[in-house]
Amino acid sequence: MKSTILITGGAGFIGSHAAVELMQADCNVVVLDNLCNSDAGVIERLETICGNAPQFVNGDIRDSALLDKVFALHPITAVMHFAGLKSVGESWQQTAHYLDNNVGGTACLVAAMERAGVRRLVFSSSAPVYGQPDSVPTPEFAPLRTTNPYGRSKLLCEDVLRELQIADSRWQVALLLYFNPVGAHASGLIGEKLSGVLNDLMPYITQVAACRHPYLRVFGDDYPTFNGTGVPDYIHVVDLAKGHLAALRDLAQAGKGITVNLGTGSGVSVLQLAVAFTQATGVPIPYQVLPRRAGDVASCYSATDLALSALGWRAQLSVEAMCADAWRWECSQMSERPLHA
Ligand code: NAD
Ligand code: WQD
Repeated sequence: MKSTILITGGAGFIGSHAAVELMQADCNVVVLDNLCNSDAGVIERLETICGNAPQFVNGDIRDSALLDKVFALHPITAVMHFAGLKSVGESWQQTAHYLDNNVGGTACLVAAMERAGVRRLVFSSSAPVYGQPDSVPTPEFAPLRTTNPYGRSKLLCEDVLRELQIADSRWQVALLLYFNPVGAHASGLIGEKLSGVLNDLMPYITQVAACRHPYLRVFGDDYPTFNGTGVPDYIHVVDLAKGHLAALRDLAQAGKGITVNLGTGSGVSVLQLAVAFTQATGVPIPYQVLPRRAGDVASCYSATDLALSALGWRAQLSVEAMCADAWRWECSQMSERPLHA
């Protein structure tokens, strides 16, 4: 019998790519999303990609009665939990909302899972829980010391999920620490919704390429890195989605939880990404160097040994593929977004 997986936040960037991978692996998928950062059109586009649509529930993970109904209606065996708010900048202005949505939402979800007897969960955590790491590549046992409310909300969720597993060994939770997810599905049909102030590098580069901004602002060229610019770990969202399937399989086989980084293991500097984008797309990216951005770190890239040994997973897709796919997605969105200053 096909297994049925609930994906919270499944209309969003990473969740929709995970839905593709799950459906292509012959799973039934139920998407629960309140569409606060996505739209229902994603569900139709998933049908175009996969040949069948996931079941879709428009609702909030903080709605306990709705969650009980979803678990009663569907034979769910595991949950992939993506629903959350993700902007570091916004989390300073809306801290209570971030804590309520991300931490309160996770607590509400696991309480409903407990009531339904479903105790297998894959959770989206994030590299900011490592703060400025002491060493790179950063292993899973690095100290946790986040420096902003968004990262704190992820750490609090991790604590809740660790606590559950300590109290009841029937809980199996994969805590997946993503580095910098970018790119889009090669079909050009799903990708990252850009809203509000753009903070992240790849979306900004695609917006410069689309002439929505005159140049890329390079935040600092005086970091102790090989060319002075910051060095994050960009990972293609399709690779990331495949990592979730590997984690789900591992939970089923190992029968216990795991905390694992999902990154490529190699950093790509800000200027290298701009150059790679031009190589992949032919579109030049003019830039200007500005002072460092508060809160940024010099380098943060992932140790990958555990992902390979425990999950048998490693990232496959190149930086050029990340750029080409991000650009294809941006081009498909151009008619839908008004130009802004
Ligand atoms: P996204 O905003 O594209 O997707 C999140 C989805 O969750 C959206 O569709 C949104 O409508 C939904 N949602 C939010 N709150 C909800 C709620 N209370 N109830 C129901 N649905 C809700 O974000 P994403 O990039 O796909 O990120 C998914 C997860 O991965 C998030 O938890 C995020 O914190 C985490 N993460 C993202 C990144 C990244 O750079 N994108 C990096 C590390 C971790
Ligand atoms: C990368 C590098 C910037 C924009 C963020 C979130 C994190 C996680 C992943 C959700 C830095 C430089 C950026 C620009 C630039 N998301 N930069 N000009 O900060 O590593 O991580 O995304 O969980 O929470 O903080 O990614 O893409 O913002 O920055 O020079 O216009 O690019 O200074 O060195 P970051 P980023």
